[in-house]
Amino acid sequence: MKQIKIDTLFTSIHLSELSEQEQILIKACKEASINAYAPYSNFHVGASLLIEDGEIILGNNQENAAFPSGLCAERVALFHFGSRNSNKSIKAIAICAQNSNGKFTDDFIVPCGGCLQVMSEFQMKQKEKIKVLLYRADEEVMLGVGIENFLPLQFILKK
Ligand code: THU
Repeated sequence: MKQIKIDTLFTSIHLSELSEQEQILIKACKEASINAYAPYSNFHVGASLLIEDGEIILGNNQENAAFPSGLCAERVALFHFGSRNSNKSIKAIAICAQNSNGKFTDDFIVPCGGCLQVMSEFQMKQKEKIKVLLYRADEEVMLGVGIENFLPLQFILKK
Protein backbone atom coordinates (compact mmCIF):
# COMPACT_ATOMS: atom_id res chain seq x y z
CA MET A 1 0.00 0.00 0.00
CA LYS A 2 1.16 3.51 -0.74
CA GLN A 3 -0.24 6.83 0.42
CA ILE A 4 0.04 9.93 -1.68
CA LYS A 5 -0.19 13.39 -0.19
CA ILE A 6 -0.81 16.41 -2.38
CA ASP A 7 -0.01 19.90 -1.16
CA THR A 8 -1.76 23.02 -2.34
CA LEU A 9 -0.65 26.59 -1.84
CA PHE A 10 -2.65 29.77 -1.30
CA THR A 11 -1.75 33.35 -0.49
CA SER A 12 -3.93 35.73 1.46
CA ILE A 13 -3.29 39.29 0.36
CA HIS A 14 -5.05 42.62 0.72
CA LEU A 15 -6.55 44.13 -2.43
CA SER A 16 -4.29 47.19 -2.09
CA GLU A 17 -1.20 44.97 -2.31
CA LEU A 18 -2.18 43.50 -5.70
CA SER A 19 -0.80 44.86 -8.97
CA GLU A 20 -2.83 47.60 -10.63
CA GLN A 21 -3.96 45.16 -13.33
CA GLU A 22 -5.16 42.66 -10.74
CA GLN A 23 -6.99 45.38 -8.84
CA ILE A 24 -8.75 46.28 -12.09
CA LEU A 25 -9.61 42.59 -12.57
CA ILE A 26 -11.19 42.44 -9.11
CA LYS A 27 -13.17 45.60 -9.84
CA ALA A 28 -14.36 43.97 -13.05
CA CYS A 29 -15.68 40.85 -11.30
CA LYS A 30 -17.50 43.06 -8.81
CA GLU A 31 -19.13 44.93 -11.68
CA ALA A 32 -19.96 41.65 -13.43
CA SER A 33 -21.80 40.40 -10.33
CA ILE A 34 -24.24 43.33 -10.61
CA ASN A 35 -25.65 41.89 -13.84
CA ALA A 36 -26.04 38.31 -12.61
CA TYR A 37 -29.46 36.79 -13.17
CA ALA A 38 -30.05 35.09 -9.83
CA PRO A 39 -33.74 35.41 -8.86
CA TYR A 40 -33.77 31.91 -7.30
CA SER A 41 -30.66 31.96 -5.11
CA ASN A 42 -30.26 35.74 -4.70
CA PHE A 43 -26.55 34.93 -4.88
CA HIS A 44 -25.00 37.14 -7.52
CA VAL A 45 -21.65 35.83 -8.67
CA GLY A 46 -19.22 37.75 -10.86
CA ALA A 47 -16.20 36.39 -12.70
CA SER A 48 -13.60 38.22 -14.76
CA LEU A 49 -10.87 36.76 -16.96
CA LEU A 50 -7.62 38.53 -17.68
CA ILE A 51 -6.41 37.61 -21.16
CA GLU A 52 -2.72 37.90 -22.09
CA ASP A 53 -3.32 40.96 -24.26
CA GLY A 54 -4.92 42.77 -21.31
CA GLU A 55 -8.52 42.22 -22.37
CA ILE A 56 -10.97 41.47 -19.56
CA ILE A 57 -13.90 39.12 -20.18
CA LEU A 58 -16.84 39.12 -17.78
CA GLY A 59 -19.30 36.47 -16.72
CA ASN A 60 -22.02 36.15 -14.11
CA ASN A 61 -24.35 33.37 -13.02
CA GLN A 62 -27.40 32.88 -15.18
CA GLU A 63 -30.15 31.00 -13.38
CA ASN A 64 -33.23 29.32 -14.76
CA ALA A 65 -36.59 28.12 -13.42
CA ALA A 66 -35.40 24.68 -14.46
CA PHE A 67 -32.48 24.88 -11.99
CA PRO A 68 -29.93 22.65 -13.75
CA SER A 69 -30.30 24.72 -16.91
CA GLY A 70 -28.56 27.67 -15.26
CA LEU A 71 -24.84 28.25 -15.42
CA CYS A 72 -22.17 29.55 -13.04
CA ALA A 73 -20.43 32.89 -13.56
CA GLU A 74 -17.02 31.31 -14.17
CA ARG A 75 -18.26 29.04 -16.94
CA VAL A 76 -20.25 31.84 -18.60
CA ALA A 77 -16.99 33.82 -18.89
CA LEU A 78 -14.81 30.84 -19.81
CA PHE A 79 -17.12 29.46 -22.48
CA HIS A 80 -17.57 32.91 -23.96
CA PHE A 81 -13.80 33.14 -24.28
CA GLY A 82 -13.64 29.55 -25.56
CA SER A 83 -16.20 30.27 -28.25
CA ARG A 84 -13.68 32.58 -29.91
CA ASN A 85 -11.23 29.73 -30.37
CA SER A 86 -8.50 32.22 -29.51
CA ASN A 87 -4.90 31.12 -29.12
CA LYS A 88 -4.32 33.73 -26.43
CA SER A 89 -3.94 32.53 -22.87
CA ILE A 90 -5.93 33.30 -19.75
CA LYS A 91 -3.65 34.85 -17.13
CA ALA A 92 -6.07 35.11 -14.23
CA ILE A 93 -9.65 34.74 -13.11
CA ALA A 94 -11.23 36.79 -10.32
CA ILE A 95 -14.43 35.73 -8.55
CA CYS A 96 -16.74 37.36 -6.03
CA ALA A 97 -20.39 37.25 -5.02
CA GLN A 98 -22.91 39.63 -3.54
CA ASN A 99 -26.41 39.22 -2.16
CA SER A 100 -29.49 41.01 -3.47
CA ASN A 101 -28.76 43.99 -1.20
CA GLY A 102 -25.39 44.56 -2.83
CA LYS A 103 -23.38 43.17 0.08
CA PHE A 104 -20.33 41.16 -0.89
CA THR A 105 -19.78 37.87 0.90
CA ASP A 106 -17.79 37.76 4.13
CA ASP A 107 -16.17 34.53 2.96
CA PHE A 108 -14.24 33.73 -0.19
CA ILE A 109 -16.35 32.09 -2.87
CA VAL A 110 -14.52 28.99 -3.98
CA PRO A 111 -15.52 27.89 -7.50
CA CYS A 112 -17.62 24.74 -7.70
CA GLY A 113 -16.10 21.47 -8.91
CA GLY A 114 -17.66 21.79 -12.36
CA CYS A 115 -16.12 25.23 -12.90
CA LEU A 116 -12.75 24.05 -11.62
CA GLN A 117 -12.84 21.16 -14.10
CA VAL A 118 -13.49 23.65 -16.91
CA MET A 119 -10.68 25.93 -15.68
CA SER A 120 -8.38 22.90 -15.62
CA GLU A 121 -9.23 22.15 -19.23
CA PHE A 122 -8.33 25.70 -20.29
CA GLN A 123 -5.11 25.57 -18.29
CA MET A 124 -4.20 22.21 -19.83
CA LYS A 125 -4.90 23.54 -23.34
CA GLN A 126 -2.83 26.69 -22.94
CA LYS A 127 -0.03 24.98 -20.98
CA GLU A 128 0.26 28.04 -18.76
CA LYS A 129 -0.96 28.39 -15.22
CA ILE A 130 -4.05 30.42 -14.45
CA LYS A 131 -4.03 32.56 -11.32
CA VAL A 132 -7.25 32.47 -9.29
CA LEU A 133 -8.21 35.48 -7.17
CA LEU A 134 -11.09 35.17 -4.70
CA TYR A 135 -12.46 38.38 -3.23
CA ARG A 136 -14.39 38.92 0.01
CA ALA A 137 -16.06 41.93 1.61
CA ASP A 138 -13.15 43.03 3.81
CA GLU A 139 -11.08 43.36 0.59
CA GLU A 140 -8.84 40.44 1.44
CA VAL A 141 -8.03 38.29 -1.59
CA MET A 142 -7.20 34.59 -1.57
CA LEU A 143 -4.86 33.77 -4.37
CA GLY A 144 -3.76 30.47 -5.88
CA VAL A 145 -1.45 30.15 -8.86
CA GLY A 146 -2.61 27.17 -10.91
CA ILE A 147 -5.98 25.43 -10.89
CA GLU A 148 -4.34 22.33 -9.39
CA ASN A 149 -4.28 24.15 -6.05
CA PHE A 150 -8.08 24.01 -6.04
CA LEU A 151 -8.57 20.78 -7.98
CA PRO A 152 -5.49 18.63 -7.46
CA LEU A 153 -6.93 15.68 -9.36
CA GLN A 154 -8.50 16.65 -12.66
CA PHE A 155 -10.57 14.29 -14.78
CA ILE A 156 -8.71 13.53 -18.02
CA LEU A 157 -10.25 11.49 -20.83
CA LYS A 158 -7.86 8.72 -21.72
CA LYS A 159 -9.27 5.98 -23.88
N1 THU B 1 -22.45 29.75 -8.63
C1 THU B 1 -21.53 30.33 -9.44
O1 THU B 1 -21.85 31.21 -10.25
N2 THU B 1 -20.25 29.92 -9.35
C2 THU B 1 -19.81 28.91 -8.52
O2 THU B 1 -18.63 28.55 -8.57
C3 THU B 1 -20.73 28.29 -7.59
C4 THU B 1 -22.14 28.76 -7.63
C5 THU B 1 -23.85 30.16 -8.74
C6 THU B 1 -24.78 29.09 -9.24
C7 THU B 1 -26.10 29.57 -8.69
O3 THU B 1 -26.66 30.50 -9.61
C8 THU B 1 -25.74 30.30 -7.41
O4 THU B 1 -24.34 30.54 -7.48
C9 THU B 1 -26.05 29.53 -6.15
O5 THU B 1 -25.49 28.27 -6.18
